[in-house]
Amino acid sequence: MKRLKYLSIIASLLVISSCEQSSKEVSGSLKDCYKDSFLIGTCVDNHLVNGRCPEDEEILLRHFNAITAENDMKTESIHPKPDVWNFKRSDEFVQFGLDNDMWKLGHALVWHNQTPSFFWFHEDGTPKTKPELIETMRSYIETVAGRYAGKIDAWDVVIEIIGEQGEYRNLGWVKAFDGDGYEVVKNAFTFASQYAPEAELYYSDFNVWRRSHLDGIVAMVKRLKKDGVRIDGVGIQGHWGLNYPSAQDIEHAIDTLSSLGLKISISELDIDVLPLTKEGQVIGKCLQEAQFQLEEFKAYLDPYRDGLPQDVAKELDARYEELFRIFYKHRSQIERVSFWGLTDEKSWKNGYPIPNRTNYPLLFNRDHSAKPALKALLTIPE
Ligand code: GLA
Repeated sequence: MKRLKYLSIIASLLVISSCEQSSKEVSGSLKDCYKDSFLIGTCVDNHLVNGRCPEDEEILLRHFNAITAENDMKTESIHPKPDVWNFKRSDEFVQFGLDNDMWKLGHALVWHNQTPSFFWFHEDGTPKTKPELIETMRSYIETVAGRYAGKIDAWDVVIEIIGEQGEYRNLGWVKAFDGDGYEVVKNAFTFASQYAPEAELYYSDFNVWRRSHLDGIVAMVKRLKKDGVRIDGVGIQGHWGLNYPSAQDIEHAIDTLSSLGLKISISELDIDVLPLTKEGQVIGKCLQEAQFQLEEFKAYLDPYRDGLPQDVAKELDARYEELFRIFYKHRSQIERVSFWGLTDEKSWKNGYPIPNRTNYPLLFNRDHSAKPALKALLTIPE
C-alpha cells in the first residue's frame, strides 16, 4: 500500500516536470499572435497592479493586452457603506492599464452579488421606493463611471440578471424593483451611456450558450434597442468545463448575438477539470455545505490534490485548443477573449462552488510555467 502511494507521488512529480519542460520551450506571445483577431485579456488583482507579483506581471505584460479588475471595481469594494468610498485600488487598476497601454474593462456597475444591501434598503430595513432606487443607481453610476470617463474602454453595465429559462432573476435590484428586471436594465444602460459616453457598454452573463437563457438575453437587447437605449456588446462568460458546453452551442450563441449588431467578448474564460463542475456550472451555494468537505466526498470531488494526471492535462490542452479554434473562426465577431486569472494558484475555481479544492482551469501552472495548451494556441492563427 505504502509502496503504491510512493509510486503515485513519483508519477505525479513526473507529470508536473513534463509540463514544465514543454512550457520552457514556448516562445511567442498570445497578444501578438492574435493581434489581428481579438484582444487577449485577463482579470487582475491589486497585488499584481501594485508590482507585488513580478512573475505574474511578466506573464501579463508578455501575453495580454486587456485587463479587468477581478474584484476592485465591484460595488462592495468601491462603496461598502453609505458614507464610504474606496477609490484607491480602482484608481491603481486604471493607472496600471494606462501606463501599460492596455484595454480596460470596468467590472461591474449593476449586479445582485457583492453589492451592499443599503443600495436597496434604508438603514432601518425598510425598502427604498422606486424613485429612491433609481436615484441610488444614477448617483452611483455618475460617481464611478464619471470618475473614469475617457479612461475606461468598456463597462460591464449589468451582469447576470437573466436566468436559465430566460426570466429576470428575482434577486438584488430586480427584487427591489418589484420584479421589473427590464426597468433595472434600461435605467442602468441609460445612466452608463450618459456618464461614460465614450465607453463601450456591455451586458455579461454565464450559461449564455443555453438556448433558453440566450432567448432571454436576446429579448432584453431587442427591447433596449427598440427603446433607443445604447448597448454595444455582450460578454459571454466562459466559466466552462472539460465536457460542456458543446462547440455548436458556443457558435450558436456567438452568431445569434452578433446578428443583433453586438460586439462579442468571451469575458471570463476558465476550464473546470474537477468532478461535477467539469460537466456543468453549479449555480449558488448548495455545494458549500460542510458535508461535501467530508473525506469520503472530498476524495471524489477533489481528486487531483497532488497534481493533474497526464490524461486529464491532455484533455484540458485539447479543450483549450478546440475553443480557440472556434474563437479564431469567429474572429470577425469577437472583440476580446479574456481569461479569469493568470495562474491556477489564484483562480476562484479552487474555492467555488466547492471550497478548498485544487483546480487547474487556466493556461499557466502554479509555478508560473505555461501549460502545453499555450503552445497549441500560438499555432492556430494562420
Ligand atoms: C462572475 C463575476 C466575476 C466573478 C466570477 C467569479 O462571473 O462576473 O466578477 O465574481 O463570477 O470570480
